[in-house]
Amino acid sequence: MYDGDIAFVLITEQQINDKVTELAKQVDEDYRGISGDLLLVGVLKGAVMFMTDFARALPQPAQLEFMAVSSYGSSTSSSGVVRILKDLDRDIANRHVLILEDIIDSGLTLSWLLKNLSARNPASLEVCTLLRKPDAVQVDVPVRYVGFDIPNEFVVGYGLDYAERYRDLPYIGTLDPKVYTAGV
Ligand code: PRP
Ligand code: MN
Ligand code: MG
Repeated sequence: MYDGDIAFVLITEQQINDKVTELAKQVDEDYRGISGDLLLVGVLKGAVMFMTDFARALPQPAQLEFMAVSSYGSSTSSSGVVRILKDLDRDIANRHVLILEDIIDSGLTLSWLLKNLSARNPASLEVCTLLRKPDAVQVDVPVRYVGFDIPNEFVVGYGLDYAERYRDLPYIGTLDPKVYTAGV
């Protein structure tokens, strides 16, 4: 699959699995005893694999909502422009909301999203991201749960794409530069 496009595997399927279980356990402890079900907000499309695995690993009931925003288009660097492609279907007022993201890179998507969702008066609002890049510390985004801090390289797989490809890989790997320099 995608022969030769992946330079190396950064995080294996097993490592992802273990981390998702660990994060879900932490979240379960922190949200034990809340009133009502926890509301998971997955950020499409990147967080879709993480969201579905996380929800199944979580030992307590959670409801699933999705929001689609995009800051990248088909480029490998952030444009800073965040667009809502799909908004939440439901009111989140007085709900305990946990945003699930696949990756925080510049932090622009998330800082925008936090502002947007906190204006809707949730009971609480936290972030759980599978991956975080060092650049994220340059924008002050409060993130409660982080799976892996990774080097500043372009990664794909487990939901993360380059030009909509590679989301379906079960692991996370770095993309061979030949893929995104082709035709430039
Ligand atoms: C990617 C990724 C995060 C965001 C992180 O989404 O899934 O949502 O960029 O970048 P930032 O911290 O620099 O804002 P993208 O906009 O590519 O949309 P996608 O999830 O549909 O791939
Ligand atoms: Mn995304
Ligand atoms: Mg993308």
